Amino acid sequence: MDSAPIGILDSGVGGLTVARAVMDKLPGEQILYVGDTAHSPYGTKPIAYVRELAMDVMDRLAERGVKMLVIACNTASAAVLRDARERYEVDAGISVVEVIQPAARRAARTTKTGRIGIIGTEATVTSGAYLDALAAVPGLEIVQHAAPKFVEFAEAGITTGDEVLEVAREYLQPIKEADVDTLVLGCTHYPLLTGVISYVMGEDVQLVSSSESAAHDVYRRLVEEDKLRDPALGEPVPEFYVTGDERRFAPLAKRFLGPQVGEISRMEVHS
Ligand code: DGL
Repeated sequence: MDSAPIGILDSGVGGLTVARAVMDKLPGEQILYVGDTAHSPYGTKPIAYVRELAMDVMDRLAERGVKMLVIACNTASAAVLRDARERYEVDAGISVVEVIQPAARRAARTTKTGRIGIIGTEATVTSGAYLDALAAVPGLEIVQHAAPKFVEFAEAGITTGDEVLEVAREYLQPIKEADVDTLVLGCTHYPLLTGVISYVMGEDVQLVSSSESAAHDVYRRLVEEDKLRDPALGEPVPEFYVTGDERRFAPLAKRFLGPQVGEISRMEVHS
């Protein structure tokens, strides 16, 4: 057993979709969430800079003694995965879970035709991280497209209406044309837009949420590594930190996570 908290990090609120999925599967675990809102969004920034920012937040979480680091952001996962494994898992014994490989594995298992679509931020798509993660699977045809405005819609709570529908049709057109049967939601915000995405893609296309897939990995790793929290410690109280303005984060966080968002505190980072 290991009763230390699970550290979850994201550029802002999006990672709360991962936190939500982790809390649903593991209600006995203590969550320590950090949104790097001072530097959000990550998805439009150069990948090397995102790497610096994410490592800084992970260092802060490691200092607080977390047992696991969950990189709950596709862009950050694309930027730091290999370094994070070496720095925290190998050197410090802290398990690292990210969102790209679990989603890629699930997509490979889900597809029947071998044609997979991927949508994500500009940085995630440009990094080719999903293509790398799926490279070893033979016979796949992959088409990817950046869907940056989806982040704005999700944060504004706009999930219906002409504007979002038009943008969804534009982004998803090349993916529909490729006749995929599986679409990876390669950005933490997109689970909030499954209604419009599924409407445009059609019901025969399976949506794979990177948030949900990562939460499965968190569950599996904690069980396999015998690191679950001691139930005798009682119900955990999740902790939430931001590097920017707490007041702006609170209403958005409630939309992404629900009423369990309690007090939100400030965390200082160096970058
Ligand atoms: N969390 C980011 C991701 O999953 C989306 C928001 C951002 O660009 O920071 O890629």
